[in-house]
Parts: sequence; structure tokens; C-alpha cells
Amino acid sequence: MIDLFPDSTRVDRGSIALGGVAAETLASEHGTPLVVYCEETLRARARALAAAITPGRTFFGTKAFANVALLRLLREEGAGADVASIGELAFARAAGIAGDEVVVHGNAKDERFLAAAAAAGGLVVLDAPDEARLAADAGVGRALVRVTLGVDADTHEAIRTGHHGSKFGLPPDQALALLAEGLDAGIEMLGLHVHVGSQMADFDAQEETIGRLAAFAGRCRTELGWAARVADLGGGFGIRHHSDERVTDAVELAAAAATTARAAFVAAGLPEPEVWLEPGRSLVGPAGVTLYRVITVKRLPGRTWVAIDGGMSDNPRPQLYDARYTAVSAARADEPADEVVSVAGMHCESGDVLIDDVALPAPRRGDLLAVPATGAYTLAMASNYNGVGRPAAVLVGDGRARLIRRRETVDDLLALESPAP
Ligand SMILES: Cc1ncc(COP(=O)(O)O)c(C=O)c1O
Repeated sequence: MIDLFPDSTRVDRGSIALGGVAAETLASEHGTPLVVYCEETLRARARALAAAITPGRTFFGTKAFANVALLRLLREEGAGADVASIGELAFARAAGIAGDEVVVHGNAKDERFLAAAAAAGGLVVLDAPDEARLAADAGVGRALVRVTLGVDADTHEAIRTGHHGSKFGLPPDQALALLAEGLDAGIEMLGLHVHVGSQMADFDAQEETIGRLAAFAGRCRTELGWAARVADLGGGFGIRHHSDERVTDAVELAAAAATTARAAFVAAGLPEPEVWLEPGRSLVGPAGVTLYRVITVKRLPGRTWVAIDGGMSDNPRPQLYDARYTAVSAARADEPADEVVSVAGMHCESGDVLIDDVALPAPRRGDLLAVPATGAYTLAMASNYNGVGRPAAVLVGDGRARLIRRRETVDDLLALESPAP
């Protein structure tokens, strides 16, 4: 179980510490729910992923958690940013990431977004008919084309993106036309982009996609006389959220993706491409732990409910993707975990259940729960449901914690309201 926690996790007489700071100290100083990011893990993963695809480039999938401090830290380790909105672009720029280190995505980029991308000097991933012309009008200078190659990833339907009929990218004939449109419009067309899906456990779908990508790149060369210099393979490497989950490590998958793509292009008679990756979850997911306070315990016939002070407003993944998590009693980790309980959120929804069953030392009001592998698509997808402010986040390392996102207050929420007519 502890192997799901970040690298700096230690257990001292039953008390969990992250980055050298006791979880109880973090919770009492910053409140709960609290998302704790381990600096050591973030840096190690960023370095390992970059090394696995050298001389390629990595762009952090900002959607996994848009946060200026995290983006800055990842940039120090060589990662640029993949952004999918004006807001994410602003976060990347605020972190000091230069335009040429930004890849701009979106299946529905409006003219304002294209103009912002052009003003920042970002590279735009063309995704829809006519977008090349609109991008050129907006002043975009460099682009990729996103192609969907009809591969079904073995992952939750909501995060499958490379199949036929996907709302993202275009199938080969239309992608070819978009590429031609970009070349005609005078945009520097650097290469091709694919993103198969997210939380992929193995290499199968990506391997199949890379083979089809090389064939498509060959077709681009034959029909347009254009050779891709870049193969951007997107993100999608999975992580383990609970002990039973079997997932090949992202670093291994990244190395396999880069090697396979280079070989497939060369085998198709094309120049070896520069491989780009856009890891989100695999960079920041394992680095994050969420701390919750137990508010009530109800022992009912057949089920014990342990209700916490957060839930679907800070982590909607169980509701969206049937995601399974686990938890540890953060100050009682040395006690036998001999009661199987369900961890419920505090929201007015019966479906607001964070964990269906987990074994804990008989829970009591006031216990602190630590939920590992919650660094990606949790706070990023948080809401204000039930008028709840979104949690704070801290970065821990070397025995200290730095606030990287303050907690939203009720006053913050009220500040958005207009007085009644
Ligand atoms: C185009 C693109 N790149 C990168 C990512 C990041 O994916 P992941 O967090 O699974 O690595 C996504 C996620 O949906 C995406 O759509």
C-alpha cells in the first residue's frame, strides 16, 4: 500500500510524513481537505520521462493540474506545457514558460483562443476543418495536425480519444486536407499529433497507433511531398491508484513509444522524427496525496460509512470514471487495518462515495485519512458543489511545506455573486 505513496513518504510510529513533514502537521496548519505534492517525486518523474525519450521533448499535460508552482518546477526539469484553454495558457505563461515551449490543444478553439496562442508564440495543434485558415489569420506561425487513427484504447470510455468517431482530431482523409490547408496558408507545419486515450495500462493501443501514424506520415509524403519532423504522441500513460491495479510504468512506456515511433518512421522510408510526449497523470498523479478529516462514522447493518470533509467536489473521478482509490489512517498506520468501511463524501448525493471498500484501523471521528495517487485530475476537476470552496495544495520537500494554491473561502464564492434584482 505504501508503494502507492510518493517517494518521500515515511512512517514513524504509525504517523505518515510526506517530504519530511508529518501529515497531522500539514492538516492542522493548512486544514483539510488538503492536496500534498511531493517535490522529490515530481522532479524524479519529470527527469525520468525526459531521459526515456531523449532527444525528444516533454510537455506537461496542464489539464492534470494547472498550477503555476508545479508548472515552474516541471519547467526546471525541462518540461514545456500542453494547454487546452486560454486559462491554461495563462498559467503556463505565469510560470515563465516561453511560447515555443507551449503546445496549444482544443477541439473547439475560438478566434480569441487562437489569437492568444499566436500572441504567446505557441505551437497550435490543428484539430478541425478550416482551423488552419483561422489560425493563419490569427497569426499562428507553427502547427501540428491531430489525426485520429481508429484505435480503441483499453480504458474508460470517457477518456478514450483515438477511436473512429472521436470528437478530437480528424480521420486520415480530413487530416490530410487540413495539413494541405495549413501548408497553403503558409503555416510552418512541423508534424503530426496523436493521443490515444488516458490511464492506459500497457503499450498495445499506442503501439498500434504508432504503426498507423507512420503509414499516415508516409501518405502525407506521397500525396503532399511533406515530411513530418515531429511525432507528438500525446499523453496517456496510466498510474496505479490502488494496490490491485496493474499498470506498466510510464517511463518504460515512454521509452517504448519513442523507440517504436523512430523505427516505424524509418521503416516507412521517412526521416526519423523528433518524438514529443504530453504526460499529465503520469507526471503529477503519483506525487499527490489528499488528506481528509473523518467527520462521522456510522456502523449500519452490512456497511460502515466513514464520512469525510471532502468528496466529489475535490475529486470527481469515482463518479466520472468509476475510479477506485485506497486510503491509510495517517496517524494510525501501525494499527491493524481490521475494519472494512466505505468512505463517503460530504455532498448531497448518494453517489458521492470516494472509496467503496477499504480496510482501516477501526475509524473514529477526527481521524486523518491519506488517499494516495490523487495528484492528477482531482483538484483540476474540483467544483464548488454545495457551496464548498476548493481545497488548498502544498508542495512538500526537505522538511517544509509551501502553499502552492490557497483554499477557496466562502467569501471567494460570494464575491462572484451579484445582488438580487
Ligand atoms: C492531447 C492530450 N495530451 C495530453 C493529455 C494528458 O494525458 P495524461 O494525463 O493521460 O497523460 C491529454 C489528456 O486528456 C490530452 O488530451
